[in-house]
Amino acid sequence: MADFQHIQEYSEEIMERKNIDIFEKIKQSKIIPVAVIENRKDAKPLAEALFMAGLHCIEVTFRTKAAAEAIQIIKAEYPKMIVGAGTILTTEQVCQAQEAGAEFLVSPGSNETVISFSMKKEICIIPGIMTPSEIEKNLENGLTVMKFFPAQQAGGIDFLRAMHAPYPMVRFLPTGGISMENVREYLKNDFVIACGGSWMVPQQLIEQKQFKEIHRLAKQAAEVVREFR
Ligand code: 3PG
Repeated sequence: MADFQHIQEYSEEIMERKNIDIFEKIKQSKIIPVAVIENRKDAKPLAEALFMAGLHCIEVTFRTKAAAEAIQIIKAEYPKMIVGAGTILTTEQVCQAQEAGAEFLVSPGSNETVISFSMKKEICIIPGIMTPSEIEKNLENGLTVMKFFPAQQAGGIDFLRAMHAPYPMVRFLPTGGISMENVREYLKNDFVIACGGSWMVPQQLIEQKQFKEIHRLAKQAAEVVREFR
């Protein structure tokens, strides 16, 4: 069973200081490219394509063996880039991501063991939710920023607006099915801290090393970010 004794301390001290900084950075970023990097050699040109386009944040998913190394490379090459680790499912991945330099973690679900461990390690975690009960469990544990996943498939912005109503203190990071066509609908709501998505970094384009095309897509996304600043 997860050990939550330290959570009050975490939520008061860490959330108040360290996490507020990272949440502010995520809020400023507005759009977080969610990338699956199979080959560590793709990390640098991918980061370059995003950074030069004006997207200064990336979530590298732990769905590949190269994830931790990719995070290390991006942090080394682009220290100003805000780098998170996604698809965090285990405590081992929490350690690997933190050691690699990830500044925040994102999970598709709300796994109490992973959440509790991340808090103990004092790294910001954004757990995934899709129901009011999951929101309440996270609130009980002192977390107020949650990933809404899979956003579009679960009911999109209308569903999120209705689900947010009883929880005005919660900020959401919708991810899943978000694109250039619907991202504005999410971003115009204050309860949306930022949107995650792979539309500007499709796995196929990364594998085909089409970084010019990624840069073009990222520039379009960066224009949306500017509209909302
Ligand atoms: C994720 O990997 O967190 C999301 O599934 C990304 O969703 P998308 O590929 O639909 O943008």
